[in-house]
Amino acid sequence: MLKAEMQNAGASDDILGAGLRQIQHEVDEAFDSFLPVPQDSRARLVEAMRYAAIGGGKRVRPLLVAATADLFGVDRHAAVRAGCAVEAIHVYSLIHDDLPCMDNDDLRHGKPTLHKAFDEATAVLAGDALHALAFEILSDHATSTDPFTRSELILTLAGASGMNGMAGGQMMDMMADEQDYDLRAITRLQQLKTGALLAASVEMGAVLGKVAIEGRSHLRAYARDIGLAFQIADDLLDREGDEAKAGKALRKDDGQGKQTFVTLMGADSARAQANALVEQAVGHLASHGEDAAVLAALARFVVERDR
Ligand code: IPE
Ligand code: IPE
Ligand code: MG
Ligand code: MG
Ligand code: MG
Repeated sequence: MLKAEMQNAGASDDILGAGLRQIQHEVDEAFDSFLPVPQDSRARLVEAMRYAAIGGGKRVRPLLVAATADLFGVDRHAAVRAGCAVEAIHVYSLIHDDLPCMDNDDLRHGKPTLHKAFDEATAVLAGDALHALAFEILSDHATSTDPFTRSELILTLAGASGMNGMAGGQMMDMMADEQDYDLRAITRLQQLKTGALLAASVEMGAVLGKVAIEGRSHLRAYARDIGLAFQIADDLLDREGDEAKAGKALRKDDGQGKQTFVTLMGADSARAQANALVEQAVGHLASHGEDAAVLAALARFVVERDR
């Protein structure tokens, strides 16, 4: 690597590292304040929500919200709240994804999954309650004083969470051992399962920034590309990653008959595809110049991550 390139890579690591540390801290603090433990028999539910929501995750989705919102000078407090809403949906999706009736996993973020640390009923309810919390956060005046902005945030996140988003993709994923998915179907599955919430994160940053639909197309293109790259990286991690670093059980997709980009294309082509998607994603940010440095670094992190 040339010296200038090394300095560049170092600078982008710093900017991303600092961005991730900051948002991780802000999201943890926000969840701490959203989730006071009640002094009655609901305490177990809220303890479980706290167990899953505080600490552990990389917080890629909240950083996408915050970094996009930052392009448009949005108040940080509002961006962190919207980021927490997406993260609440994401955390709920992981709790349910780990259940015995889904992927049946015992480890998440390097500690026992929620149903292992508590029990299955509590895990189902903690997921339900986090799902509701997401929309409570978005519909609150504290997120935006503008009712149109609040309702657009809610519409965006609801669309990305349900049958046309994460839940729909999870259903396709559950059917993957019975269905003979081709590359097109796998792309659709991944776009719903993983891409939709990542895309919603970027979109919500733009919504907070009151960017008109016409002004969002390059951001949508960025989000679509990193969404696919993100899941390819997750599937590569499943095949090749280090469990201690990932903090979750790996080498499960093959055993469960999951079809992924890696099983269909092979690891090398999947990696090449993910890298190409990232370069394409970064290209979509060109009009923002250095202002989009965090989003560009995040795109590269998505495929280089080891957890
Ligand atoms: C893991 O998502 C599950 C997928 C959608 C592939 P992340 O890798 O963002 O999970 P955490 O929250 O950082 O653990
Ligand atoms: C999970 O995908 C995606 C959602 C929870 C929506 P995976 O099942 O591949 O995620 P990991 O590998 O358990 O984190
Ligand atoms: Mg799964
Ligand atoms: Mg899983
Ligand atoms: Mg996986």
